Amino acid sequence: MKASISTISIVLLSVSLSISLVTSNDAVDFDNFLRCLPIHSNPLVPITDAILTPTNSSFEYIYQLRASNLRTLLSSTSRPLAIITALHPSHAQATVVCAKRHGFHLRIRSGGHDFEGLSYTSGVPFVILDMFNLHSIDVDIESETAWVQAGATTGELYYRIAEKSNVHGFPPLSALVDTLVEVAMGFL
Ligand SMILES: *[C@@H]1O[C@H](CO)[C@@H](O)[C@H](O)[C@H]1NC(C)=O
Repeated sequence: MKASISTISIVLLSVSLSISLVTSNDAVDFDNFLRCLPIHSNPLVPITDAILTPTNSSFEYIYQLRASNLRTLLSSTSRPLAIITALHPSHAQATVVCAKRHGFHLRIRSGGHDFEGLSYTSGVPFVILDMFNLHSIDVDIESETAWVQAGATTGELYYRIAEKSNVHGFPPLSALVDTLVEVAMGFL
C-alpha cells in the first residue's frame, strides 16, 4: 500500500513537472511570436500599436465586443494569448507567418458574427487576428465594382454604395445575411 502511494506521487510529480515545462516553453514561444511580428510587417504602421495581450486594459473589452457566443463571457472559456487588431494589411500577413512559425493556432475574426465561436475560441493556445480596423470600402460606380476590406460590415457597404448611386446595391449571399447589417465582409 505504501509503495503504491509513493508510486502515485512520483507519477503526479512527473505529470506536474511536464506541465510546467510545457507552460514555460509556451511562454518562450509566445515571446518569440511577439518579437516575430514587427520583423514581418510594415514599420511605417507599427504593429506594436495593434497588439493586445491580457495585460492591456482593453483586452477583455475588445475580446467580447465581437463575440456573439455568450459562452465567451464565462471566465472558464479560454482566452487568446493575444489579439492582433490589424491596422495595416501587413499586420495580417505577419500574424499568419508568425503564428505558423511559433506553433500557435490562429483564429481570424472580422465581425465576430459566428455563433459557434470558431473565430474567437480554441481548445489549444491561440491568437486572434482581428480584422475590424480594416474596413475601407472603395466603390467604383462606373465599373460597377467595389473593393471591400474584410472588417467592413454589410451595413457600411450598403451605405457607401447608396452614397454614390440610387439604383445599385450589393446582392447579399442569402436573405438571412440581408437582414443582418452588422455582418462583416469576412463573414467570420
Ligand atoms: C498594451 O500594453 C503594452 C504594455 O503596457 C503597451 O506598450 C501597448 O502600447 C499596449 N497596446 C495597446 C494597443 O494599447
